[in-house]
Amino acid sequence: MRLPARGARSVRVETTNQTSFLPMSSTVPGAAGYGANASVLASQYESITFSEVYRDLLHLFPVQPCAVLDIGAGSGRDAAELSRRGHQVVAVEPTAELRAEGQHIHRELAIEWVDDHLPTLAALRRTKRRFDVVLLTAVWMHLDESERSAAMEALAELSAEGGVIFMSLRHGPIPEGRRMFEVSAKDTIQLAAGFGFRCDFEAEREDMLGRSEVRWSFLALHKRVAHR
Ligand SMILES: C[S@@+](CC[C@H](N)C(=O)[O-])C[C@H]1O[C@@H](n2cnc3c(N)ncnc32)[C@H](O)[C@@H]1O
Repeated sequence: MRLPARGARSVRVETTNQTSFLPMSSTVPGAAGYGANASVLASQYESITFSEVYRDLLHLFPVQPCAVLDIGAGSGRDAAELSRRGHQVVAVEPTAELRAEGQHIHRELAIEWVDDHLPTLAALRRTKRRFDVVLLTAVWMHLDESERSAAMEALAELSAEGGVIFMSLRHGPIPEGRRMFEVSAKDTIQLAAGFGFRCDFEAEREDMLGRSEVRWSFLALHKRVAHR
């Protein structure tokens, strides 16, 4: 078997009498388990709306068009709604199969899809762009403690002054085949404070997909404006 080229979407598999192309799943640890089930997962993610997910925080979203970064965008449900609302949206998604689903489902929208990942977001940081809104919906708990620290540093760099991070954290049993950690809202607020973010909203709620064993924390973390 040949190794895939960097950034390749599929891998060429050669056996003695056959050549075929298989989709390439991400090598990002936190993305484990997403590629193989991408179309089922995309339907599940699209079965709820942005307004249902962010029900309790809708009043905190900017109304004026601004730069939005959706990290771990999945099928692009939230990226799509914010794009429809007139924002300029970059959707980062390391799982090629989910990225392809999102690009297809929301093909009529001007979402910029990027193959990058936490904790470093190296490709995006090279562009020196800054974002007014950063979304991390059901993503942060895929990172271990040292990755979360490095990721918060990246988020501080990518956030515009006065910008806001909206984050949801999953609590409950870890699904088979996934890499996930129990991460508390309290520890996340504390980590963010060390990088210049103030928590303006914290709430816990039931699962949007009706799983009784799962609960979610929601946070809004505002980047303090530096006084010169
Ligand atoms: C539970 S899904 C959430 C998708 C979407 N945000 C939503 O709410 O529907 C988690 C997503 O995080 C992505 N992910 C996992 N590890 C990641 C990492 N290290 N950096 C960026 N995204 C990651 C997965 O590929 C997957 O799309």
